[in-house]
Amino acid sequence: MQLATQRLLIRDWQPDIDAAEAIAIYGNPQVTQWIGDKSLDNTVEAVQARLQRYCDRAATFPGLGCWAVVQQDTQAIIGTLLLMPLPGQDNQPSGKVEIGWHFRPESWGYGYATEAAYAVLKMGFTTLDLPTIYAVALLENDRSLRVMQRLNMADLGVSHDYYGGHPLRLFCRHRFEVPIQAPI
Ligand SMILES: CC(C)(COP(=O)(O)OP(=O)(O)OC[C@H]1O[C@@H](n2cnc3c(N)ncnc32)[C@H](O)[C@@H]1OP(=O)(O)O)[C@@H](O)C(=O)NCCC(=O)NCCS
Repeated sequence: MQLATQRLLIRDWQPDIDAAEAIAIYGNPQVTQWIGDKSLDNTVEAVQARLQRYCDRAATFPGLGCWAVVQQDTQAIIGTLLLMPLPGQDNQPSGKVEIGWHFRPESWGYGYATEAAYAVLKMGFTTLDLPTIYAVALLENDRSLRVMQRLNMADLGVSHDYYGGHPLRLFCRHRFEVPIQAPI
């Protein structure tokens, strides 16, 4: 998978090659405090194992994935964009698909997450023909909630139905709503 946007390239992770750079994402508590079990990966080996887990989980669902986001002008890996099965209350796939984003803090505040997520949403609706794409965030994760709003996702309120029943703010976007337009 490879998607190009104005400033970014979204491509498959190569866990063994990319792990050293991805420490800037998964070795930073400013990022990991908002993700899953909040575990921090301080070594290349730990990041490589995390990226491999993400890729393996997505690989069992055709078309879904977890991708590296590369800044075109510097070729730096600045984040992750993912389209994955959304885990339900029992942590098993709920039948819904979620979009997600993890970016290194030095690349926050430039619109990169929204730009990459817009391209992946569009690919999900067109290439994969998904009817609806969901997103969840911890209630106090204002930056992530703002990305969902910038993508014109609908706010469905607080839900306890996903990620093992943890209270999360749930958003969604349907394929046949208004035509999808670039937010930036
Ligand atoms: C969530 C996260 C991806 C958001 O990153 P972000 O850079 O704030 O989001 P965007 O890419 O949409 O950038 C928007 C910001 O860039 C600014 N910006 C600057 N240039 C811009 C441009 N050309 N286009 C759009 N926005 C631009 C916007 O004004 C906005 O700033 P503001 O939020 O201060 O108003 C990032 O904070 C992150 O990785 N957090 C940790 C992991 C995480 O929480 N993941 C989600 C779990 S649910």
